[in-house]
Amino acid sequence: RVPAPFNESPRDFAPGSLEATRVLKEIDRVRGQVRELPHVIDGERLPLAARTNVVAPHDHGHVLGHFSPAGEREVTAAIEAALRARPTWSRTPWWDRTAIFLRAADLVTGKYRDELLATTMLGQSKTFHQAEIDINELADFFRYNASFAAQIYDTQPQSVPGAWNQMDHRPLEGFVLAITPFNFTAIAGNLPSTPALMGNVVVWKPSEKSALSSEVVMRVFEEAGLPPGVINLVHGSGADVTAVAQQSPHLAGITFTGSTAVFRQLWKSTAANIDRYRSYPRLVGETGGKNAVIAHASADPEALVTALVRGAFEYQGQKCSAASRTYIPRSLWASVEAPLVETTANLRVGDVTQHETFVGAVIDGASVRRLEQAIERGKALDSHQLLVGGRTRSEEGWFVDPTIFQTTDPHAITMSEEFFGPLLSVYVYEDDEWDRTLRLVDQTSDYALCCSVFAGDRRAISQALDVLRDAGGMTYVNDKPTGASIGQQSFGGSRGSGTNDKTGSPLALQRWITGRFIKETF
Ligand code: SER
Repeated sequence: RVPAPFNESPRDFAPGSLEATRVLKEIDRVRGQVRELPHVIDGERLPLAARTNVVAPHDHGHVLGHFSPAGEREVTAAIEAALRARPTWSRTPWWDRTAIFLRAADLVTGKYRDELLATTMLGQSKTFHQAEIDINELADFFRYNASFAAQIYDTQPQSVPGAWNQMDHRPLEGFVLAITPFNFTAIAGNLPSTPALMGNVVVWKPSEKSALSSEVVMRVFEEAGLPPGVINLVHGSGADVTAVAQQSPHLAGITFTGSTAVFRQLWKSTAANIDRYRSYPRLVGETGGKNAVIAHASADPEALVTALVRGAFEYQGQKCSAASRTYIPRSLWASVEAPLVETTANLRVGDVTQHETFVGAVIDGASVRRLEQAIERGKALDSHQLLVGGRTRSEEGWFVDPTIFQTTDPHAITMSEEFFGPLLSVYVYEDDEWDRTLRLVDQTSDYALCCSVFAGDRRAISQALDVLRDAGGMTYVNDKPTGASIGQQSFGGSRGSGTNDKTGSPLALQRWITGRFIKETF
């Protein structure tokens, strides 16, 4: 049996504590370097041909590293390396593969912990706490996936005397392309490692915005014992890498986390190339969200305020699970509005290496411009009132103040479109409109990732769970919509939010195997 998995507990990083001092020292070390971030193909690091800067979002004049965007030559080399590694890796016993990722988990929480925290804080603008839960989640993924893999390989059909039935859980035939987002180092590590754990070979293209921490994750894989060529890391543009990968007849699957628009494009371009492929490529996507927090008149106002502030503004609202629209009954709004606005106004925005900072920088200048436009659109609407925030700054770092609009139009863009930033829209409904409001929540947005229901009344909870059945892959009752724990709340959404293949569960591993049934008679 593989060791029982567990969730790492976050440490509190109190100012002056041993762990905070150690991470700050590591931050100084990382900040003092300009790292070369090469492609890693077949275990070899390719010299940089061109130089694209990787900067710290809260201090964007500060260059932390360089990578060289991959072209056709590098992507082709990565695919060839993966295909060369496949015969041995796909026949390596599952327990040997699993041991590598269990070792990776220990490297994440041991030797590489401070470096992963420092590169995630600096490169992706995460506070101590946000970086800590991210890095813990990376280790949690490795440990839980190891135990899910064991469950899957152990699952075998019935046999009868004279006939032995076996399920050979084969990896896919070909290579898997993993395209990973900037917002979680854990997701960046999980997407290539899950297919690899199940015996597949992978070309991994991390976000250009998280190239710094992804390079550390790659070293973790290597030091844990992953053979060269099993996961090949190429930096650069997702569109360029995908276009080359989609020409290969050996493309067996794509695992993607990012925007809905890009995933739809990916689906279409895969379909356009379908006649090339030996097998139907499997497409796994976790995409956008317009996550609602719905309060009933019986809800606890204090818990609701905490959930809204944390759900909407932690990590600058750049979680696919972030709260971005809320529905509050008028009687409750009377006790929620003032503390919500006051708490939000007092959140410290700034340098993530300062302990007091709650909101860091958004990831890049394009995000500031997108959010600025959304705020201007909101301000221009008669139906909208700006309650707090609305300011952006780009001189030193890319900052957007936590912003709340109240709207009288439940169909307004601020209630339906994803902005991926610290922007929350409030719709106050009349207390006797609970039923109508639940239907409104279900019908307003094309996404279905997370939603939260706040209520004391258990009948209201049952009713919400029923009406909102298809409105989210994750429904939280009396809790914020962010922060799923691996092994506890398996994560994913449907409709425009993804293929709902539930990371943090055996389902996510099942997508990367294809069964061969063997019946042997005696
Ligand atoms: N897993 C993250 C959360 O639950 C989002 O990707 O917040």
